[in-house]
Amino acid sequence: LSSVDGRLAVTLEQSRRQVTLAGREVRALSYNGGVPGPTLRVRAGDTLSVSLRNGLTEPSNLHVHGLHVSPENNGDNMFVTVEAGDTVDYEYVLPADHPPGVYWYHPHQHGSVADQVFGGLYGAIIVEDPTPLNISRERVLVISDVTLDGSGDIAQAIAMDTMSGREGELLLVNGQVNPALTARPGERERWRIVNACVSRYLSLRLDGQRMSLLAIDSGRFESAREVEDVVLAPGNRADLLVTAQTGTSVLRSLAYDRGAFGGMMGGGRAPTSADATVATLTVAGEPGAALDPVAAQPVPRDLRAATVTARRELVFAMGMGGGMGGGMMSATINGRVFDAARVDTTVQFASVEEWLLTNTSTLDHPLHLHVWPMQIVEERGQAVETVRWQDVVNVPANGSVRVRIAFDDFSGRSVYHCHILDHEDSGMMGVIYTY
Ligand code: C2O
Ligand code: CU
Ligand code: CU
Repeated sequence: LSSVDGRLAVTLEQSRRQVTLAGREVRALSYNGGVPGPTLRVRAGDTLSVSLRNGLTEPSNLHVHGLHVSPENNGDNMFVTVEAGDTVDYEYVLPADHPPGVYWYHPHQHGSVADQVFGGLYGAIIVEDPTPLNISRERVLVISDVTLDGSGDIAQAIAMDTMSGREGELLLVNGQVNPALTARPGERERWRIVNACVSRYLSLRLDGQRMSLLAIDSGRFESAREVEDVVLAPGNRADLLVTAQTGTSVLRSLAYDRGAFGGMMGGGRAPTSADATVATLTVAGEPGAALDPVAAQPVPRDLRAATVTARRELVFAMGMGGGMGGGMMSATINGRVFDAARVDTTVQFASVEEWLLTNTSTLDHPLHLHVWPMQIVEERGQAVETVRWQDVVNVPANGSVRVRIAFDDFSGRSVYHCHILDHEDSGMMGVIYTY
């Protein structure tokens, strides 16, 4: 679905219904009857209007992940609840200088986010390049994971899963297990990859092919960087160029150690994902037409030389206990669980802030900030040389990351949270207010 004359108006109807997933008939949550939902294609300066019809039997809502749009009115969707059976219209106005790239949408109803995303509610948003790149073909690969039970339903999480962050047994690309992709030698494909998994990190490798990375999230590099693998935390996206070489290559996600949750109760199983097959690319036949190199991209903004107007620290912690029920997990930022009625961080308009993200727990936490992307300036005490702008930044177990953020437009109320959606639902989220 692409915008026409500066506008894309779509209806997204959420329902629980029979869909084909992993080659089976499954009862899943879907947008417009499909998993994933339709890809929405817009341009900088466009208006995206979405009419969300909630055909579920529980509250939900819509979030446009990574878009640099005003959080005012119902723009920060996470504060809007769409009751079962209701319809809410959202309107997002992309600024004229909105970065092109890969974004996505998913529900953000606090307490149900992990269940609803795991259930099948996610889809890609592409903000088109102002000048098309020189490629043979483009693919949108929405990667998710799911566990199916014997009766064709999506498995419910158990308590332990919600501490570690649930990971599905099956890895899916656009709802399919190990899809077969084909290309001709020398062709250049552009892969728009979304990590829509609730908790699984993807460490992607494609042996036998040449990969270069154009961008992570909205952070386009000045020139595509040759890479051997690409690591995507939950919520991250990659914009990748693959230059096809004759042969068959398996896109794999390698095991990624994101730590283990060892609470006072004896702890959880290690959530370390095992190696998994994602897709298979077969390159054969007559060589494709020769392509000129991809043009250099605009020089990205760099805040390393900027004057920092405020510094703050966010500390991510996990533990057992607290709460009246006892034995409850707590997932906190600066010692507090999410409260929609509280403002945790107040930011002055037109400032550049530096945030130190510190993780005191034994699990990684990928921090996501709505609306404003973050430039990673330091990781584990080491200065970061390349300019990297992301909206999900992994904060490693017992480690820290330093980011800078330019709050140069938009005021209103929004949030930051861990994008392991089970942790977000447990309260690892704070409210940010800019004015
Ligand atoms: Cu992708 Cu606040 O979420
Ligand atoms: Cu988001
Ligand atoms: Cu987390």
